[in-house]
Amino acid sequence: MSYENILSKYDKGITTITIERPSKLNALNSATIRELHEAFKEADESKHTKAIIVTGSGEKAFIAGADISEFADFSVSEGRQLSADGQAMLFDYVANLSTPVIAAVNGFALGGGLELAMAAHFRIASDTAKLGLPEVSLGVIPGYGGTQRLPQLVGKGRAMEMIMTAGMIDANLALQYGLVNHVTAQEDLIEFTEKIATKIIRNSSVAIAGAIAAVNANFEDGENGFDTEISEFGRCFGTADFKEGTQAFLEKRRAVFPGK
Ligand code: COA
Repeated sequence: MSYENILSKYDKGITTITIERPSKLNALNSATIRELHEAFKEADESKHTKAIIVTGSGEKAFIAGADISEFADFSVSEGRQLSADGQAMLFDYVANLSTPVIAAVNGFALGGGLELAMAAHFRIASDTAKLGLPEVSLGVIPGYGGTQRLPQLVGKGRAMEMIMTAGMIDANLALQYGLVNHVTAQEDLIEFTEKIATKIIRNSSVAIAGAIAAVNANFEDGENGFDTEISEFGRCFGTADFKEGTQAFLEKRRAVFPGK
């Protein structure tokens, strides 16, 4: 499928989705959010894609936030709807995908940009990245899951400080906080991220999907993560991947997973 605001490219098991609005620092307008939903859905449903990388075009920004020009005159109910629709269509959708999603944060990740990076399963940043939730400086709060995911990743006190000051942290502090897993030079970011994705896609995609569901269950209201783990663990025993994985180990060869 072709898109106006993003680029989706497949190569060797990995789909890379790039937000392509560099003149607006890749700010997320509603059309881009819809296209991102379609691109993530298409990649997740493709039997070839085993990992997804999301990044921003240009050297300056991953995503500088939701597009402020689109919601500046919204009413209370429109604001509420914006948040609910965005969470359902993109942010929760990405967090709950069964295909692993890695955010390659190549510059500013602000507001909705940091929220999308946090919805991804993990994050790698360039040393030029700047991360923050500046919403209170605009008189609003993070509305795409930021108030929930930031404390989960960095702890309540650090999240409160970042949200209340509306400040940005650099890549090395983000690494120290555990908000990103690795920091690379900007020119190495995509290659480094692809290397990690390549390690992931050698493993069983059905087992990885079960692991994502079990880890996420820890953060879902009313779900017992240990119970989810038990049922996902059990489900693996009925898969062709499990048979291949155990057989290959016993035969001292590398497993070739059928992905089912
Ligand atoms: N929404 C809409 N447009 C945005 C945007 C956003 N979140 N972030 C940047 N842009 C646009 C700017 O309006 C500008 O467009 P223009 O050239 O048509 O005027 C263009 O992107 C470049 O941004 P600019 O501000 O000139 O770049 P800068 O290097 O001086 O500053 C930032 C970079 C990221 C510090 C600054 O753009 C910024 O603060 N953006 C808003 C961040 C934010 O509050 N995000 C949360 C939204 S809820």
